[in-house]
Amino acid sequence: EKGGWSSFMAKEVSEEPEAVANTVRGRIHDGVVQIPELDGLDEMFLGINRIVVVACGTAAYAAMVGKYALEQWTRIPVDVELAHEFRYRDPVIGPDTLIVSISQSGETMDTLMAVKYAASRGAKTLSICNTQGATIPRESDAIVYTHAGPEVAVASTKAFVAQITALYLLALHVARLRGSLTAAEIAVNAHELEAIPAKISEILATEQTHIEQFAHWMADTRSVLFLGRHVGYPIALEGALKLKEITYIHAEGFAAGELKHGPIALIEPGQPVFVIVPSPRESAELQKKVVSNIQEIRARGARIIAVAEAGDAAVLPYADEVLRIPLAAPLFEPLLAVVPLHIFAMGLANAKGLDVDQPRNLAKSVTVE
Ligand code: F6R
Repeated sequence: EKGGWSSFMAKEVSEEPEAVANTVRGRIHDGVVQIPELDGLDEMFLGINRIVVVACGTAAYAAMVGKYALEQWTRIPVDVELAHEFRYRDPVIGPDTLIVSISQSGETMDTLMAVKYAASRGAKTLSICNTQGATIPRESDAIVYTHAGPEVAVASTKAFVAQITALYLLALHVARLRGSLTAAEIAVNAHELEAIPAKISEILATEQTHIEQFAHWMADTRSVLFLGRHVGYPIALEGALKLKEITYIHAEGFAAGELKHGPIALIEPGQPVFVIVPSPRESAELQKKVVSNIQEIRARGARIIAVAEAGDAAVLPYADEVLRIPLAAPLFEPLLAVVPLHIFAMGLANAKGLDVDQPRNLAKSVTVE
């Protein structure tokens, strides 16, 4: 039921704080991360030397974000692969590979076939899924459910933040087992994760109206670009995908460092470019690089919409618009930076009078290959 909301998507964006909180619940106790569903599987996590995350669409962007945390915290090499590409290239996998699949519905045929293929090659399989008892978790050796609640709108929002949350919990669980982080380091990250729901709520409370007005004002835009670096890169991809899906506006996401290798040729006066800016307080080096990317495109007439930490004064001279997010440690910024992009896509679709819940040509779960 939509309750008092104008659309399921509006309701589901408003539920992003709970999606994270409910996914964390019962898995962190006083800074110790232990996922009860993974009890008895310690040997599996100790025996692997490689992780491949397979998913499609938005879930694949969650996987790309998760790769940074998984590698940094577990020191296990991680690859992310689109599920539909994975099994057509004779991948190098075996009993010491863990295949992590991510799927909101648990029914995506491309992802299911990748999991089955991996299992037939002797790999271990773990499913991150939002739907109890769905096919993909049933086909997997291990399951970590996201608890975002049912997602009805075709465009995925609250499931995305829940997927990143589950990947981070998994990474911290494995880091504890393998001793790749100290208990104190795990506790610091666990507390960062526990603080996220309140920070998302803050964005919804303080920025939502502003972003919706801004989206209304942008309703005639024909093309929007998104730039990000490090964990901001998959967020740029997600921002672009959501805009394409529900507003039918041409949108593309790029890694900010890739600009000068080609995409900068697209910049002409008036071109709107969203830039995910890392926090200067938490990652000064990265922030400087991104600010210099902003200067390069601004000099060519781009209109800059910065998604930036509320206290970041350095972007102000270069941004035409700032969408503010609270401070978080670098790996946790994606869970915040994506929220304004979800609100923006929805606001723009509403401004154009489109059906945000049922975009044309799309189905909620893609059960054909
Ligand atoms: C984007 C979107 C799709 C899904 C993709 C995977 O908003 O909803 O890109 O993320 O089709 O679906 P699941 O997660 O059900 O496997």
